[in-house]
Amino acid sequence: IAWAPDPEALERLRIVHLGRKSPLFERLRGLGDLPPGDRKAAGALLNGARVRLETAVAVRAAALGAGTGGPAVDVTLPGRASSRGAAHPIPATIDAMLEIFRGMGFGAVRGPEVVTETDNFDFLNTAPDHPARDMQDTFYLAPVPGGPPGPDGRVMLRGHTSAMWRREMARREPPVHLVFPGRVYRRDAADATHSPVFHQVEGLWVDDRCRFSDLRGVLEGFFGQFFGRPVPVRFEPRFFPFTEPSTEVSIECTSCRGRGCPACARSGWLEVLGAGMVHPNILAAAGRGWAAPGVRGFAFGIGVERLAMLKHGITDMRWLYDNDLRVLAQVRG
Ligand code: PHE
Repeated sequence: IAWAPDPEALERLRIVHLGRKSPLFERLRGLGDLPPGDRKAAGALLNGARVRLETAVAVRAAALGAGTGGPAVDVTLPGRASSRGAAHPIPATIDAMLEIFRGMGFGAVRGPEVVTETDNFDFLNTAPDHPARDMQDTFYLAPVPGGPPGPDGRVMLRGHTSAMWRREMARREPPVHLVFPGRVYRRDAADATHSPVFHQVEGLWVDDRCRFSDLRGVLEGFFGQFFGRPVPVRFEPRFFPFTEPSTEVSIECTSCRGRGCPACARSGWLEVLGAGMVHPNILAAAGRGWAAPGVRGFAFGIGVERLAMLKHGITDMRWLYDNDLRVLAQVRG
């Protein structure tokens, strides 16, 4: 009855279930034949069924607009509020970042979070005794019992999106203009500014007319678009095994605009990423077009949580993971 498509169909159903020849009506008529002691209970049962059927017919009739001469919709009633979902701030921030980089000619590639020591360290020119390889810093996966150690070293959760370089360099040749968004893992305790799982967007741009000034232009353009206004960007020397020269990039503090405040430890600047020119050893190791004369590249790794926090004025990273709807509703859009 509730699904009757039109008033005619509903009327046919009403006749079948409530009409003079319906099983219900026949039983109601037969009540008098029952032993007197059973009549009352049977009558109550049958009448209950009749009321339910009549109600269902009336409700459906109202919905179909039968008998009222028009649709049974009361347009003066207040509307029902719908609660709409929205993207979580982390994926929303990644999407916004990828969109900006897409406008600059970067394509996005995602890859595995479980990688080898070769992906994460050796291919990236990282010394065998580099401290980041320590069990203290890296999540290694237990080896298959009795299995031989693989040729690519231990299996681990990637500690940075730079672990994508080896895979993508193996299957492509320059020119390459890519960003690698995704989760990375480090053995850090969760606090206001750390999490054992966080997100990076890595950039890798390699072609034959590529210079450090291109890196600078890309990053300045990116931050200007991300924050919707020109943002001063500062480059300082730093060491990464896989870039040379390497740089640590800061932006002018977004809360005090450079005057100095608690958010920037009174320096006026906030470190937001590491970057540099792809190390020649890595281009040589990648071989083929990567090792061709004149081919250069730059790379950068941006922390997504940091940028999401700056954009939304969030001071504790854990708020991004708590799924407290009061926080999520405030940062949407
Ligand atoms: N992988 C580095 C990190 O996670 C960042 C980086 C990326 C530095 C690319 C240089 C080039 O700290």
